Amino acid sequence: VIDIRKLYAESDAFTYDPGFTSTASCESKITFIDGDKGILLHRGYPIDQLAEQSSFLETCYLLLHGELPSASAFEQFETTITRHTMLHEQFDRFFSGFRRDAHPMAIMTGAVGALSAFYHDSLDIQDEKQREISAHRLIAKMPTIAARAFKYSVGQPFVYPKNDLSYSENFLRMCFAVPAEDYVPNPVLTKAMDRIFILHADHEQNASTSTVRLAGSSGANPFACIAAGIACLWGPSHGGANEEALNMLKEIGTVDKIPEFIQGVKDRKYKLMGFGHRVYKNYDPRAKVMQTTCHEVLSAVGDPNDPLLQVARELERIALSDEYFVSRKLYPNIDFYSGITLSAMGFPTTMFTVLFALARTVGWIAQWKEMIEDPSQKIGRPRQLYTGSAQRDFVPISGRA
Ligand code: ACO
Repeated sequence: VIDIRKLYAESDAFTYDPGFTSTASCESKITFIDGDKGILLHRGYPIDQLAEQSSFLETCYLLLHGELPSASAFEQFETTITRHTMLHEQFDRFFSGFRRDAHPMAIMTGAVGALSAFYHDSLDIQDEKQREISAHRLIAKMPTIAARAFKYSVGQPFVYPKNDLSYSENFLRMCFAVPAEDYVPNPVLTKAMDRIFILHADHEQNASTSTVRLAGSSGANPFACIAAGIACLWGPSHGGANEEALNMLKEIGTVDKIPEFIQGVKDRKYKLMGFGHRVYKNYDPRAKVMQTTCHEVLSAVGDPNDPLLQVARELERIALSDEYFVSRKLYPNIDFYSGITLSAMGFPTTMFTVLFALARTVGWIAQWKEMIEDPSQKIGRPRQLYTGSAQRDFVPISGRA
């Protein structure tokens, strides 16, 4: 009989690190985070500068290529993305197979995975050109798929991409234009949308990005890997938190209910959604930009005195001064204000994580490309600490108690 404990003792040492709190899985040149200081840099550029001065497509170029584009390189990139916004017409039939009440994230997971069934000509991951075409296709088609999922869920006809609009204008038009109406996107909302996309573009080795890398490490095609990332993002501890944060604010309803709610959090009945982060033990720099964006959007199209915003502000004030939250370094994360903002822009809560997935696609694909192009890349294969039975002999069913 093999003694499993003895086997462990004799085998090569390995670390037991549940949740990967202190294990790096790769080298990367894309994104830097200093969680203690609240710093987030993409290719060296601070997130607040990108959110203020760049555009989402320019940030996509930066994440993919490592440098900000020249004017001509950007023009070429924008043209390429624009040329790939359409979906194969047969996708229509694929969409109509879903129930109308399906969660748009369920549709996204299926539809993005299905891209590999439609675009066979860019699946050779060893071919640099094909890797690039897949990246462009994903960035270009995600808004079209997301808008289609939205229109399908509300029973409205699909609006085709209009390629003389910017990336974010085009997306808003595909979501909110009703055909026959001449839709003019509100510039405040377009700017907010673009900024929200920039804020979500990449965040180094979070759960969904690690999922994309792990799926890709086996040689799976990029569309399949991104679908795996979308599935992971859907969870309420990750991308699903913005939906949960808004639901929580609605549940609290009014400022006078906050003390009772906070007590419930301290009694561990529930978590304060939109607070806390595995890496940031200081203010999430994206949350600051999101807070400003939230005010801009509410001033333009909503109610700056929205009761939900009042609840959010008061909750933030209390949490930042209450010993329970301060001692655990629980600061608002990006999801805290994004829910109120997206809701004011007209998106139902079920679309929040879809928008996150749309924006994060560039980060996922940049990380996937970096991994494939790394000569030291190996298939991801974590170890385990076995805690089951010791070896024992099989007992036929007639001999079991
Ligand atoms: N509300 C109340 N208490 C919390 C919260 C919260 N949101 N988050 C953590 N804590 C407490 C834990 O109970 C624990 O307390 P204890 O030491 O007394 O046991 C302590 O803070 C440390 O928490 P961990 O669970 O160890 O923190 P971890 O790094 O594993 O979790 C996570 C990070 C998952 C983000 C967590 O803070 C959480 O669930 N937050 C709410 C969901 C959320 O907003 N997610 C979005 C993350 S950002 C993103 O994906 C874009």
